[in-house]
Formats: sequence, C-alpha cells, structure tokens
Amino acid sequence: MKFHKKTIRDVPLEGTTVLLRADYNVPLAEDGSVKDDFRIRASLPTVKALLKKGCKVVIVSHLGRPEGRDESLTIEPAAQRLAELLGEPIRFVDQTVGNKVKMAIKRAPKRSVVVLENLRFHAEEEANDEAFARQLASDTGAKYFVQDGFGVVHRDHASTAAITLCIPSVAGLLLEKEYVSIVKAMRHPERPLVAVTGGAKVSDKIQVVKELVEKADSVLVGGAMANTFLAGLGQSVGASKYEAGQAEVVKDIVTLAGKRSAELGVDLSEFLELPSDVAVAKSVDDKHVENMPVDAVTEHDMILDIGTVTAEHFARTIANAKTIIWNGTMGFAEKEVFSHGSAAVARAMTQNASAESIVGGGDTADFAIHWDTKNGDSFSHISTGGGASLELMAGETLPGIEHLLDA
Ligand code: 3PG
Repeated sequence: MKFHKKTIRDVPLEGTTVLLRADYNVPLAEDGSVKDDFRIRASLPTVKALLKKGCKVVIVSHLGRPEGRDESLTIEPAAQRLAELLGEPIRFVDQTVGNKVKMAIKRAPKRSVVVLENLRFHAEEEANDEAFARQLASDTGAKYFVQDGFGVVHRDHASTAAITLCIPSVAGLLLEKEYVSIVKAMRHPERPLVAVTGGAKVSDKIQVVKELVEKADSVLVGGAMANTFLAGLGQSVGASKYEAGQAEVVKDIVTLAGKRSAELGVDLSEFLELPSDVAVAKSVDDKHVENMPVDAVTEHDMILDIGTVTAEHFARTIANAKTIIWNGTMGFAEKEVFSHGSAAVARAMTQNASAESIVGGGDTADFAIHWDTKNGDSFSHISTGGGASLELMAGETLPGIEHLLDA
C-alpha cells in the first residue's frame, strides 16, 4: 500500500534546519526520569535519517496536559533519554519559542539535535493558534516541518495543524509506518484477518469494534469488554468490571456480526468469539484464581482473565490468520496471575511468523513490549498511538496526517 503523503524521502532536506514534531508524551518515574522509552525509541529512525542528511533537527513535543508552565512536566528527561539512545549529546532549550531558542539553534552545528521545551506550556498549542505556529516556524528558522508524532495526529493543535500553513510539511518514517501498517491491515489485509479486542471500555471503542466486525473474518473478544458483551446479552458476570447501560450497543454489534457471519457462511459463535470459560477471583488482590465456565460465575466472582479453554481456542484461530490486529488486553494483565490470556494471544501472534501482527497502542502495546523478550520486535508493528491508533482503525481521517503535503 502506498502512503498518500510526502515523506522525508520526497523533499530536499540535505543540510537544512528541520522542525520535527515527535510524541514524547511518555510516563515518568517518581524521580522524574523516563519510565518507558518506547515512544522515544520509535522516533529514532527519523531522527537518524535527518542527521544522516546533515540536518539541524529541532524537536518539539508535548508531555502531559499542563495548564501553563509546569516544571514537573518539562520535556528535559525525554531529551536526556534521546541523547542516551542516540549515543551523542543534544542541546535542550528550556523555552519553546523566543530569543533563547533562536540563539541555541543558530549556535548548534549542522548535523545536530536541539530539543525545545514542552509545547503545551503555551495554551496556544492546543488552541491551534496560527500566530504561535508562525513564531515556532520563524524562531527555529526551519525550512521544513516533519510530522512524526503519530500519537498526537488525531488532535487539531498548532503543531499538528496550524504549523502546516507556515512551512512545507511532510511525514516522518514512524508516521508513515504507523499509517501504512494500520490502514493496510484494516483496508487491504491478507486474509483471514483476525481481530482481537478487549480492554476496559466498550463505549470508547464502539466505532472500532463495528469496523472490525465489518472487515475481519473473526473477532475475538476478551477483557472487561467481553464482560460488557456477556452482561448485555443477559449473562450474569457477578462482581466483574463491566460497562452498564451498553445492552443496546452490544445488541447492535451482535446484529452486525450476525450479518457478517452469514456473508462469510460461518456460525455467529465462530465469527464473534466470546469467552466460554473465564478465570475468576474474589478481588484483584486475591491469589486464589479459579477457572470456570462462564455460566458458573456467581455473584461474588470477578472475571479477571479469559479461561484456559478460551485462550486455546483464541490461539488456534490466531494460528490460522494471515493478518492479526490486537487492541485491548484479555484481562487484568497488570497482574501476572491474570495475564495468561493476554500472554496466550501474544504468543500465538508471534508464533504465526508469516502473518502480519499489529498491536494497537496504550495498555496493549505496554503489555506486548514487556511480554516480548525482543522488546516488541517479535510483532510486525506495535503502535505508539493510543487515541490516534483507535481513530485510524475506526476509519477516521486524522488532521495531523491530512494537512501534510500530498505525495
Ligand atoms: C497520547 O498519549 O495519546 C498522545 O500523546 C496524545 O495526548 P493527549 O491525549 O493528551 O492529547
């Protein structure tokens, strides 16, 4: 599949100053250091490619949701981590625009990296303020803007929208990989396409689940989302976490799944696979975990993982797939005792080496990276986006991508 936007390969960047939008919105540890550098590592191919072209690379990003300047949300720790990963010093400026920025960039040699302070210290960023974008463009003296912050391209902000009115704007390599991996899997997959969905909430993901039901050859549902489905279909889920008031939504999705399974000539239960057995405990801290059929769940039981039979069943379906999209863990996977279902899905995906295996962002990406002995490289693609990957999977257009120059 061809990407419909220009990338850093398509414009003469050699020796120029480039403004690079990354998404370094990363979790921080209590001592302020970067707790998880997945997003920073994912930005390296673009940073290295720009350095190879002799560019002065000026990086901007947001971190958290500050209201004005907030030193606890400085981007400096991310800049330090980037320097460690690159294995060379970089310059950090504690301002995003202004004289200090101008001077630092002027003094920086060719083929170097300058990281500017958190974009969201300025309310103008989220307001998509054009004057702020113009100042960013002129203070940095950038000749090109490179959008590589996939995690934030669903937002209409100064660094995703207005900036593209000020300087020629192209995609970075991460953005291109994210787009092509996700859109190809959703629109032009090698079949069978198996979608595995879970996580805590249905309401956040209705559009995605509908899209998956319409596009996939099988949809496997686990996690608290499966509880919501079971409850919506009248099954007691005891003390389990589920989303109330979703019965109509669940019925709509099941009706859609009924139509799709008829088109495919398979039984509904083979197309939309819900857990037949589950792992339950009395609380998330309970060490005593019991496997039981779904209809044996009592009012004090909490479903915290899919059961062993379901996990085997899901793994078999995944083993026969040519494309697998996974979004949402199969249980309370933060705790190892309740992570067996998610681990079974991850294992089946990585063992099916000839299939394209795509992991949606957020908690599922965290789980996949920590489960994998190769830091996530055993999967074809793990998305750095949370909301952005969900919106892309749901078939929506993302402003931060659409504003870039057409290929
Ligand atoms: C994310 O973590 O999903 C992105 O960095 C976007 O952050 P936001 O939800 O605060 O806009």
